Amino acid sequence: MSELAKNSVVSRVKKRPDIIRLYANITKDLDKVEERLKLYSRSHNKLIAEISNYLFQKGGKRIRPALLMLCSKMLGYNGKEHILMSTLVETIHTASLIHDDIIDNSEFRRGKESIHVRWGPNITVLLGDYLYIKALGTSLQSKHHRITQILTDTSTRMIEGELSEYCMSGNQNLAEEDYLDIINKKTASLFSASCQIGGILGQASKKEENSLKEYGTNIGMTFQIIDDLLDFIGDEKILGKPVLSDLSESRITLPLIYTLNNDGKENRERIAELMKKKILEKDSLEEVLKIVKSNGALDYTSKKAEEFSLKSREIISQFPKSSHRDALALLPEYVLSRKK
Ligand code: IPE
Ligand code: IPE
Ligand code: MG
Ligand code: MG
Repeated sequence: MSELAKNSVVSRVKKRPDIIRLYANITKDLDKVEERLKLYSRSHNKLIAEISNYLFQKGGKRIRPALLMLCSKMLGYNGKEHILMSTLVETIHTASLIHDDIIDNSEFRRGKESIHVRWGPNITVLLGDYLYIKALGTSLQSKHHRITQILTDTSTRMIEGELSEYCMSGNQNLAEEDYLDIINKKTASLFSASCQIGGILGQASKKEENSLKEYGTNIGMTFQIIDDLLDFIGDEKILGKPVLSDLSESRITLPLIYTLNNDGKENRERIAELMKKKILEKDSLEEVLKIVKSNGALDYTSKKAEEFSLKSREIISQFPKSSHRDALALLPEYVLSRKK
């Protein structure tokens, strides 16, 4: 990493906004979401009760509920529906994670064993389906019928993104544009929908609703690019999930795309050789990591994330000033410098 980038990462971490402070305006409402999520754990069915109880213990960052609430409140919403809607976006997110951990062969999440490790993949697939369908069905309780359509379209896009990523794994010709399209679908779409739903609750004009969607997409893109960067340089204990897992399973993300397009012939050929194996062992992982760390790929990735975060801040700054808007303007900074 260049000295310049090192400095910028260090200074970024130093001034990293604290998530607790960003959520200060909505702490009570987020607690209500926790209670609602716990209601999902109540079931006559022993397996649903047991697994949901394990799943909905606190541990996630709850960033999608926070975005939904902050967007609605920035527009002056003071009803109660944001609690239910936030619960639904978090439930869809949770369903996507438990399916994702099967697909990615990922054995721990939020510092604990993944659901499929504890209960096996068959049950986990069903539980994920159950959560998706329950969330979509519950959304029909809203007086805004459009919300069900948005959540259905978003869930479909997320699955499309996951499937494209799976099909592209190991494909060293993956272009940056394809990567951006995949992460837009699998991750940014739910960020965008969360912000849009917040807007709908807050009676946003068409223009405001579109701006919130765009804000959500851009913060979601930042979020996933940083997630992919943390897969290379993050700390497993802080993240609560495995690192180098994309690389070990031949999932090609931005640092590797940059390397494959910009490094010298020798390194490119060496990576191609190492990646002939579908699953990379420790020695190969370390060799690739060393190459990626030495050629500016991490700086490039970090800058790309910064571009999306700046765009999201620019969009949100067009809304009238308020404490909720301030939190929304600081969230991209948090996402950019997050370690978890
Ligand atoms: C993880 O999302 C999946 C990605 C989109 C990278 P989060 O990092 O928001 O997961 P939790 O909910 O905080 O565990
Ligand atoms: C998660 O993608 C995106 C969805 C669950 C839709 P990743 O596979 O990159 O996220 P982590 O690293 O497992 O959290
Ligand atoms: Mg994963
Ligand atoms: Mg994945």
